[in-house]
Amino acid sequence: MGRVQGKVAVITGSGSGMGRAAALLFASEGAKLVVVDIHEANGQAVVDEIKKGGGDAIFVRVDTGKEADLKRMVDEAVKAYARVDIFWHNAGIAGPGSIEQTTEEEFDRQIAIHVKGGFFGAKHVLPVMRKGGGGVILFTSSASGVKASPASPSYSIAKAGLQILAQCIALANGRYNIRANAICPGPVQTPLWPSFVGRNPEVISPADLEKAFLVKVPMGRMMQPEEIARAGLFLCSDDASAITGVLLPVDGGFLVT
Ligand SMILES: NC(=O)c1ccc[n+]([C@@H]2O[C@H](COP(=O)([O-])OP(=O)(O)OC[C@H]3O[C@@H](n4cnc5c(N)ncnc54)[C@H](O)[C@@H]3O)[C@@H](O)[C@H]2O)c1
Repeated sequence: MGRVQGKVAVITGSGSGMGRAAALLFASEGAKLVVVDIHEANGQAVVDEIKKGGGDAIFVRVDTGKEADLKRMVDEAVKAYARVDIFWHNAGIAGPGSIEQTTEEEFDRQIAIHVKGGFFGAKHVLPVMRKGGGGVILFTSSASGVKASPASPSYSIAKAGLQILAQCIALANGRYNIRANAICPGPVQTPLWPSFVGRNPEVISPADLEKAFLVKVPMGRMMQPEEIARAGLFLCSDDASAITGVLLPVDGGFLVT
């Protein structure tokens, strides 16, 4: 019996990195997956991989910065599986840089992909969860949403916004058996990671980037996508049945330094 056996899990940004790792892990633990991404080929490849392993999954192409897409995401999930038990909004992009470097369009895109994705995803999924007797919402925030990141303030603001949003949802929905939490990864070895290069004048190569971050990680290594996926599985499973409104760092100790 898997830890999310028979549950329907919608995971955004699951075509790559930690979302992909989470989709594969949740499927191996018995969940039916709604793989959501803006990148169609990557998302479809994850669906194919799940099906090849004997699991059940569909792909929905979504831009998490658009409410209409998020509504369609929930509608497609209900059409395929009649319910949604888990909504993990994990899609994201790297920040554009310092205040001086950031255009209005880039700022709006940060808020849209991260915060609107969580806000309007929740708006459309909450009624479905309530009707189904409960559910779990999880957001991928970041250690940069706890510890201010001057190298990319718009990213920091967006990730901090997701933490408060998780707590607002937790407060308003506990009585409906709906939990909401945020996970705060430190540096994770994913395809997104190298795109943080150049945000800081001293960080001009992926090697510089690792060096700059790893001195601040007591465990002295990058996190792996599977480690974030396993922490997310815990929060989305009944093992965490009394846990709501928490911000869980998965960062090798980064936030303690
Ligand atoms: N990698 C890190 O060090 C790190 C650290 C802390 C937090 N995070 C956060 O973790 C999450 C996952 O990142 P990752 O490192 O696995 O990156 P990744 O690039 O491997 O995966 C992100 C996925 O999100 C998708 N995506 C981007 N914009 C989208 C949109 N508008 N709509 C739908 N999908 C979209 C991408 O296509 C991609 O598949 C992100 O929210 C990121 O901000 C990453």
